[in-house]
This record gives sequence, structure tokens and C-alpha cells, in this order.
Amino acid sequence: MSEVSLVVNGRRVSGVAEDRTLLVHFLREHLGLTGTHVGCDTSQCGACVVHVDGKAVKSCTMLAAQASGSTVVTIEGLADGADLHPVQAAFREHHGLQCGFCTPGMIMASVDIINRHPEGLDEATVRAELEGNICRCTGYHNIVKAVLAASKTMAKGKSKAASRAKKAA
Ligand code: FES
Ligand code: FES
Repeated sequence: MSEVSLVVNGRRVSGVAEDRTLLVHFLREHLGLTGTHVGCDTSQCGACVVHVDGKAVKSCTMLAAQASGSTVVTIEGLADGADLHPVQAAFREHHGLQCGFCTPGMIMASVDIINRHPEGLDEATVRAELEGNICRCTGYHNIVKAVLAASKTMAKGKSKAASRAKKAA
């Protein structure tokens, strides 16, 4: 057994887990954060993506004990209170989901993709970057539209924040 201590969605949590417990199971079963889904047992579907220390990780590929000491964000921690994260809002606006099973992982992966491409994104890059996330419903078209739209919204948000900081200085 291992003592697992993490900051999850801004809250310090700890628990004892078997050494073989995967991070996804720790999140879902120990912490009740069932927004992170399990869609395969081959590390292919991406339904389980969360952020560990700011980077997208398939949480079925990491042991809870390995993640101990890290900062984790799950889909439950992405919105700012009642305000959806821009990627969540874009998925809603552009109909980037149907059954919703893949959506938490798709959104967490998309936030990471946008953060890693501050220069902006094009359709080919989004499609290539989302190769590790499988959706059985949408045909991906609206997901790609949503990610491109969110990337623009987030870039605008950053430039507004930068000009506010400049004025304040
Ligand atoms: S559950 Fe499918 S990749 Fe993690
Ligand atoms: S919306 Fe159903 S699997 Fe993607």
C-alpha cells in the first residue's frame, strides 16, 4: 500500500491506495471525481485525460503512487465557478459532443494543445494532436471547430490581460 498525497482541483487530498492503483481509479473511486472516464484498457481512447503538473496525461497510464506530490486538474476543476472554461464553452457552442463520454478527456487534451500552441492552431494540427482521443459519435468535425474557436478566444483573453497589465504598469 502507498500513501498518496495530491493537490486535486486546488484541494489537498490524501489517501492510501494499493501500489497497483491507477491514477484514474484513485480519482474516480477514492475521490469520487467520476468526470474522468475509462473507455478502454489499452491506453488508446483518451477518455481519462487529466492534467498532471500542467500537462495532459492519460490517467490510466500512471499509478496513483507515481502521481503523489503532483498537482492534478480534472474536468471538474476546469470551470471558474459558474463560468465555463473557454474550451468547455466552445464545445457547447459548436456542438462538439453527442453522448459526452469522450468529452472530459477531449476537453482536457484540447486545453493542453491550445496551451502548447500559443502561436495559434490550424485544422491539420488539431486533428494530429487529437489522435490519442477517440470519439465514436461526432465524426470529429465539430470537435475540431470547437478547439479552433477556443484557441482564438483564449488568445484574445491573453492579449486583453496583457494590455490591462501594461496600462496598470
Ligand atoms: S481509459 Fe482509454 S486511454 Fe485511458
Ligand atoms: S461524443 Fe460520444 S464518444 Fe464522443
